[in-house]
Amino acid sequence: MLLHAASVGGLYPDVACWSAAEIVRDDKDKRQDWVLRGFRQFDAPVCVIVTYDRVLDGSDDTPFDCGAVATALVNAAWSRGLGAVFNSQGIMQSPVVREHAGIADDQIIMKSIALGWPDESFPANAVVSERRSVEEATVFVGFGN
Ligand SMILES: Cc1cc2nc3c(=O)[nH]c(=O)nc-3n(C[C@H](O)[C@H](O)[C@H](O)COP(=O)(O)O)c2cc1C
Repeated sequence: MLLHAASVGGLYPDVACWSAAEIVRDDKDKRQDWVLRGFRQFDAPVCVIVTYDRVLDGSDDTPFDCGAVATALVNAAWSRGLGAVFNSQGIMQSPVVREHAGIADDQIIMKSIALGWPDESFPANAVVSERRSVEEATVFVGFGN
């Protein structure tokens, strides 16, 4: 049950979202609009930039810790009804982000998270991602099977 509950956070369910937003694969304009939404942080009013100290670069703990803090932030936001989306697109132009957010040079930009009140009328927001089952995603050792 715990593993099932923890199996959240699908990656890029674009096809399901295109379907919900009635975008067909051949419609380049609508697909482009979809991509631009990501660069606009899905029109969310707030963008959180997750960074880490440059001295920690290369440690295997660093991406783990960034993921942990990002997950905690997203869960905290959702517990208060706020929508949150991990968004790599938001930091693809990281020098621009650094300049506008005033991020010091001793920080490395890891990821951005869009935050805002979800627009329930937007079709893609009704998509519920499919997950692999616990049996597919987990190897149990020493549980008598
Ligand atoms: C590390 C990471 C980076 C992501 N970057 C993007 C992105 O740049 N653009 C995008 O549309 N979705 C991106 N996503 C996907 C969304 O954040 C979100 O996980 C996806 O819409 C699935 O939603 P769900 O977790 O509710 O199933 C990213 C997800 C992760 C985990």
